[in-house]
Amino acid sequence: MAFATGQRVCRPALRAGARPSRTNRLVTVCKAHKVAVLPGDGIGPEIMKAALKVLTAAGKKEGQTFEFTEALIGGAAIDATGSPLPKETLDVCKASDAVLLAAIGGYKWDTLPAEQRPERGLLGLRAGLNAFANLRPAIVQKQLADSSPLKKEIVEGVDILIVRELVGGIYFGQPRGFGINDKGERIGFNTDVYSESEVERIARVAFEAAQKRGKRLCSVEKSNVLEVSQLWKEVVIRVGKDYPDVELSHMYIDNAAMQLLRNPRYFDVVVTGNIFGDILSDEASMLAGSLGMLPSASISGEGPGIYEPVHGSAPDIAGQDIANPMAMVMSAAMMCRYDLNIPKVADRLEAAVNAALDSGLRTKDLWKEGTTLVKCSELGDKLVELV
Ligand code: IPM
Ligand code: MG
Repeated sequence: MAFATGQRVCRPALRAGARPSRTNRLVTVCKAHKVAVLPGDGIGPEIMKAALKVLTAAGKKEGQTFEFTEALIGGAAIDATGSPLPKETLDVCKASDAVLLAAIGGYKWDTLPAEQRPERGLLGLRAGLNAFANLRPAIVQKQLADSSPLKKEIVEGVDILIVRELVGGIYFGQPRGFGINDKGERIGFNTDVYSESEVERIARVAFEAAQKRGKRLCSVEKSNVLEVSQLWKEVVIRVGKDYPDVELSHMYIDNAAMQLLRNPRYFDVVVTGNIFGDILSDEASMLAGSLGMLPSASISGEGPGIYEPVHGSAPDIAGQDIANPMAMVMSAAMMCRYDLNIPKVADRLEAAVNAALDSGLRTKDLWKEGTTLVKCSELGDKLVELV
């Protein structure tokens, strides 16, 4: 897609110190890919550790190296610096080719005021990098079709891409806050707002993605009630004229939430606003069997993107080495494909996950009779062997 940024040039070069001669072999020397690593909170550090091992091993097979710079975000950053997104972290991210993020948040910080919570760190990072397009694939791996709480006949073959607008809408709209109404009662309020240009740019990402897939795009909104959705729909229809090969449909969010369970194979690419995309992507994860399977990419088209699992920090299982690192590994694969432009490394990562599933390896979230229960770190080591 137009989003394959930062074409990396690998220069054939002579081995250091070698005198040029006809017998000297040319070797390909690539500069290391600069990756900002943000392990965050809860299970974050565990899945990140596993994923970096696997990524390094896959890169090695393809002659690619990485320079990882670790930085603080979320609760870990609050504890160390008082801020969920220290300036230094944003600077490290901006100076990198891509950002790999695990998860943020935990009980410990749940009682802090909203503007000091770990979530603000993540939202600040997305806004700071203008990562407006959040791509969340929900693919049912054939080995896991019976792990979904839905019937196998319904989820088999599901392959959906949710394109969620990520730096606008009700998450960021002004005014927001608390106040007092005319009855003297406390109120809380937020604003769901989109400009035409914000809708247009996310719509174009979605149409382009659809062109490369099943050529069907469903725009999800609530235009029977909300003005912001009426504008959304108008702009999507207008932009759609530039993509006559893509079949465009429209669905209200309530109906979309229902159809996603009733007939998920109806969907190819879904484009929607920030909060509807947040909700639909968690719902879609249950088609795939576990939230532990879904990767995501948040990109702007220029500058580094953010690659993170859809799942959260799961503080209830943190520190037990039982988390599923697969969504983290597949997020690293998306990073290799979209930002680092090393699709062969991405292929290796995805193939390794597939092979691990084939051989019956399952972390606790997916384990059932007849499969082999593995710890997070064990699965990481297995994936290193399989890349
Ligand atoms: C997500 C998460 C975040 C969001 C939270 C942690 C701020 O739920 O990435 O889906 O709401 O966007
Ligand atoms: Mg969410």
